[in-house]
Amino acid sequence: MKKVILCTIVWMFIGTTALWAENEEPKLGDVTDGSRAVPNHLIPLFDEEGSQIFLDDTPLLPFSTEQTCLPCHDYSKISHGWHFNAPDSGIHPGRPGHPWIYTDRVTGTQIPLHHRDWEGVYDPAVVGLTPFYFLQEFGRQFPGGGVGEIDSADISKDLFFRWQVSGRAEVNCLACHDVEAAHDQTQYDKQMRNENFRWAAAATAGFTTVEGAAEDMQDTYDIYSQVGPGPAEAVPPRIKYDDHRFDDKAQVFIDIRRDIPSRRCYYCHSSRYIESPDKEEWETDEDVHLTSGMNCVDCHRNGLDHMMIRGYATEAQETNRPNIASFSCEGCHVGDENKWPELGRLGAPEPRHLGIPTIHFKEMSCTSCHSGPWPRKETMNVQTSIAHGLGTHNVIKGDSVMPYIASPVYARAQNHKITPHNLLFPTFWGVEKGGDIQPVHPEELQDVIITAIEADTLTDSLNFISINTGEWPTLSQSQFTMILDSLSVMKDTVNAVFVGGGKLHRIEDGHVVSEKHPAAEPYKWPFAHNVRPAEQSLGSKSCKDCHGLGAGFNFGDVKAASPLGFQPTAKRSMTAYQETSKFYQGLFAFTFYFRPILKIFLDVCLILMTAVFLLYVFKGLDAIVQNAFGSRD
Ligand code: HEC
Ligand code: HEC
Ligand code: HEC
Ligand code: HEC
Ligand code: HEC
Ligand code: HEC
Ligand code: HEC
Repeated sequence: MKKVILCTIVWMFIGTTALWAENEEPKLGDVTDGSRAVPNHLIPLFDEEGSQIFLDDTPLLPFSTEQTCLPCHDYSKISHGWHFNAPDSGIHPGRPGHPWIYTDRVTGTQIPLHHRDWEGVYDPAVVGLTPFYFLQEFGRQFPGGGVGEIDSADISKDLFFRWQVSGRAEVNCLACHDVEAAHDQTQYDKQMRNENFRWAAAATAGFTTVEGAAEDMQDTYDIYSQVGPGPAEAVPPRIKYDDHRFDDKAQVFIDIRRDIPSRRCYYCHSSRYIESPDKEEWETDEDVHLTSGMNCVDCHRNGLDHMMIRGYATEAQETNRPNIASFSCEGCHVGDENKWPELGRLGAPEPRHLGIPTIHFKEMSCTSCHSGPWPRKETMNVQTSIAHGLGTHNVIKGDSVMPYIASPVYARAQNHKITPHNLLFPTFWGVEKGGDIQPVHPEELQDVIITAIEADTLTDSLNFISINTGEWPTLSQSQFTMILDSLSVMKDTVNAVFVGGGKLHRIEDGHVVSEKHPAAEPYKWPFAHNVRPAEQSLGSKSCKDCHGLGAGFNFGDVKAASPLGFQPTAKRSMTAYQETSKFYQGLFAFTFYFRPILKIFLDVCLILMTAVFLLYVFKGLDAIVQNAFGSRD
């Protein structure tokens, strides 16, 4: 009997260590033998249950990225990478990044949202964007994973039945790694809007077609039996595969690469400056690194863990990854003398910066002088993929499309250095409770606002409702008062407020009162691209690029757009974000106009001094000669 128990324990022990070893052991595709050749991915496809997909399956299911890559790659490790781990509160949020911006045109709402704990962003749930709705709203530029894979406990809180129909949004490996020309990332947007979460990644591949919408299906719809669809005309979501791409073993070649072309990243990371004199694509240059032949992933690298290098100066230290230090601007170009030879990766030239006082490198990031558009008198509006859905179908192509992001704003960053930022003033209707402002969900207010606008005969209400320019409405004072009054009644409170243009607005005794409030402060995040060529760096023309009296760097204005038509657009001086005063900078700038005069004065002094000096040298020589050879007389 004892023997049996012992055997069982030993067996269990061996069993568990074997299991443990199996989990720990790297998978086939996760260890490299050092070859830099491209591995060929002719692989079988698997659905989300792990069954292989054959062309005669009924129904044909979409392949799952998790199950398809899982046999050879550690999916769970990859899915904790930076692009996918936003909801994980255990991850250091680091420097504030680009937020998701919830935009509603009718109510003029623009609120920065994120699952990360960055100061100034709201949790998406504040405007009702639980994971399901979040995916539908922002699926267009969503890399998969994260809230797309919430566990069943959370699902039960959030539309349990809809999730059964839509499926999960797994990490979309193809968004980055599929380099096939026929890859179509816009399909992801379309499928996510249609609630086809489990079809979305597969739909982007060049060998599939997806039609139908889970959104049109009833809660009880079963994807396997395809029983219980919605209304008769509704088409259930379904996928078709290109037969020619399947070989005899039902394997498909997917062109997967590690050296991801920049165009894949651009789908989610493009930006377009509206007021820039050269805003057409053919007029603008790319980042100087890219034009010299580099790719995004030459700098934004990662290992299997997919903790992509973000590249900001303090990242290596903050995240305790000393090996990534040489991928910041400074790390690659200036380096650390003690760590030679890391400096100059990929042939990065070491700048000499002759004549630039060292205080500038203490007070400013490298990107201040090198990145983004040249600063102007007023900030410009910038449109980005993540904020404006650039690159997706049906995107509104106007210049005045919400949300309004001001750029470049030279502001102090977390590390106290002046750094170029993009900046968004939150704009929303809300209710004040104990000093905090709770945004009201725009949908609750849409009718009220349309009524207010229609009631006001001065405004051509039809114009703004029907013409799709992507702008927010411009409200008159009477409309504004009417809306706030309705909101008060709706919420049964006297504290209905509007946040916008950098101020909190309320009605007191029939008057509009506008005051400062933390909730009205802008959310700003640093940008690093595009790096201009050295000849176009700030300071390359003269010090007056920044210290000149009219220089946008110091004396530019930051526009705070707002839908309140009866108030002038608020402007703040750039110096307000640099923690210095316009007056001091003005005085200092003034000295630069005297510098040339001072220089001429110094030059004249120098010439005079040299002349006097030479006069005495010659006089001295004359005396020596006379002493040595005696007077000729
Ligand atoms: C049958 C096994 C297998 C499957 C399935 C598989 N891979 Fe791989 N993968 C490999 C191997 C082997 C390598 C090469 C590893 C090495 O030597 O560096 C590799 C390498 C890679 C690389 C690096 C490519 C490069 O250019 O160096 C990427 C990216 C990758 N796989 C992504 C995927 C994705 C995405 C999927 C799922 C759609 C997938 N793989 C499915 C075996 C597989
Ligand atoms: C947001 C873009 C992105 C997504 C999505 C993505 N990857 Fe990657 N992956 C990268 C980058 C960037 C690298 C590193 C490239 C480099 O350093 O040259 C990489 C590297 C890899 C490597 C090589 C890792 C190593 O050991 O060096 C594998 C394997 C891989 N990815 C597999 C996957 C799989 C499987 C998925 C989906 C589950 C996936 N990736 C999703 C961007 C992505
Ligand atoms: C499908 C959309 C998508 C694709 C494709 C994509 N990204 Fe991203 N990227 C995002 C989103 C969304 C974030 C914000 C992630 C977060 O903070 O949770 C992000 C964040 C980043 C960041 C960090 C930004 C910061 O704030 O510091 C870098 C760097 C980055 N991406 C580079 C890349 C590169 C390089 C590629 C191509 C290999 C790529 N991305 C492909 C959507 C995408
Ligand atoms: C991983 C290394 C690396 C990183 C990180 C890097 N660079 Fe570079 N940089 C290079 C290389 C390589 C070149 C030379 C490109 C060429 O061949 O023209 C270069 C060139 C430049 C130039 C000169 C372009 C010209 O006109 O000759 C500037 C300016 C510059 N980088 C600024 C920056 C800034 C600002 C950052 C941070 C956003 C940065 N670099 C990050 C590698 C890097
Ligand atoms: C005050 C503005 C300013 C700051 C801050 C600044 N630079 Fe420069 N940088 C310039 C100017 C102007 C030039 C062109 C003249 C020159 O080469 O000195 C230049 C040139 C360069 C070049 C091209 C060198 C070459 O030989 O081609 C590189 C690379 C560079 N800088 C990188 C950096 C990095 C990295 C940082 C941050 C540590 C930085 N710069 C900070 C103004 C600045
Ligand atoms: C030469 C290296 C290099 C290349 C190439 C490069 N980046 Fe960067 N990137 C950086 C560095 C360094 C930072 C952080 C700089 C800082 O703010 O100090 C950065 C910051 C970013 C950020 C966050 C800040 C921002 O600008 O929004 C994103 C997103 C990003 N890069 C995406 C990309 C994409 C997409 C590409 C390709 C189209 C790319 N990068 C190419 C070095 C590079
Ligand atoms: C990119 C913009 C920029 C350029 C170009 C630039 N500066 Fe500056 N300069 C600054 C900023 C920002 C500060 C720091 C102000 C602060 O600390 O509040 C500064 C500070 C200074 C200071 C110290 C003043 C003080 O308040 O302590 C001097 C001196 C100076 N700059 C001279 C120059 C000279 C000379 C040049 C030309 C070679 C030059 N700067 C080019 C932005 C610039």
